[in-house]
Amino acid sequence: MSSPRDPFLLPGDKPPVGDKLQKFLSAAGVTSRRHAEVLIKQGRVTVNGTVATLGMRVEASDVVRVGGVQVGPQAPRFFMLNKPTGVVTTLDDPQGRPTVATLVPDDVRVYPVGRLDVDTSGLLLLTNDGEIAHRLMHPSYGVTKTYRVLVQGGVSAATARRLAEGVELEDGMTAPAQARVVDAGSQQSVIELAIHEGRNRQVRRMCDEVGHPVIELTRIAYGPLALAGLAPGDSRPLLDQEIRRLRKATGLAPARVEKPGSRAERRAAKFGPPRPDGDATGSEQEVVDGNRDADAGHGGNADQQQHPAQRGPRRAGGGASGGAKGSGGGVRKQHGGGNAGRGGGGRGR
Ligand code: URA
Repeated sequence: MSSPRDPFLLPGDKPPVGDKLQKFLSAAGVTSRRHAEVLIKQGRVTVNGTVATLGMRVEASDVVRVGGVQVGPQAPRFFMLNKPTGVVTTLDDPQGRPTVATLVPDDVRVYPVGRLDVDTSGLLLLTNDGEIAHRLMHPSYGVTKTYRVLVQGGVSAATARRLAEGVELEDGMTAPAQARVVDAGSQQSVIELAIHEGRNRQVRRMCDEVGHPVIELTRIAYGPLALAGLAPGDSRPLLDQEIRRLRKATGLAPARVEKPGSRAERRAAKFGPPRPDGDATGSEQEVVDGNRDADAGHGGNADQQQHPAQRGPRRAGGGASGGAKGSGGGVRKQHGGGNAGRGGGGRGR
């Protein structure tokens, strides 16, 4: 519904009904609002069978399709996976290799936020929330990804400084990063590297460039979230407070969602009917559902970092099947349900 303060309304005008199509597509997990505009301009979106135009509004009863596939609002879901090596960061691998899809619940379609190489292990986020995924991946939001890297040779403080200040790769200079030598031996060293870019095989190429090829690479943190406590192959839904921290890290407002029913009904359900001599007491619980209530407000689109939801329509069915074996542990699913209180499904690719 439009706001009564809509500056474009003249006296007597009927307020427009429904949500802007961009907002609808973002809430459906298809993409960010900004990129939804691109999809609309490209003519890839239809509403009730008619090619959509910018500025259109839609209601729940409208049938919206992107690339011919119907999309609709869904509850945001977030998972953290400790990706083992040997598992591919995709939901469907044409070569039949084990994919990350086998390691998260299959009742919901969530997409990997960015990519870890098949031989990289560690923290991988998966979500159906296109807006937050876009913000987590796009370098302009400055979200840091931290890697623990076992490299060949003894890394000096001077080399760590080079990594931090930027090294010249074939696709240009790397942005300033943070680099720390954790343990320097004569044959091997362990360093921690925190970057906010997400170029293809960036850490490996940076280490190659300074003469210390990577032996093992593990992502240990993504923005404010650390991997701790999750064995390789295990995944779990993010806690509400973790989602809140991700939203904060990406400049999104905290989401507050009213539970269904009137305030009185919700109180009655929680505390029983009000006594005749007074009201039941208790504070309203804040529920985070990742509602996207802030605009993307950013130009550009990280091509290589597009969330899969931005690349095309949903496909039916989950990812590849089959287990996987990675170094450092077996592959297990360890999760129950999703983010508590969040129903709905996502999409696969
Ligand atoms: N940098 C790499 O080189 N590989 C990854 O998987 C992630 C970052």
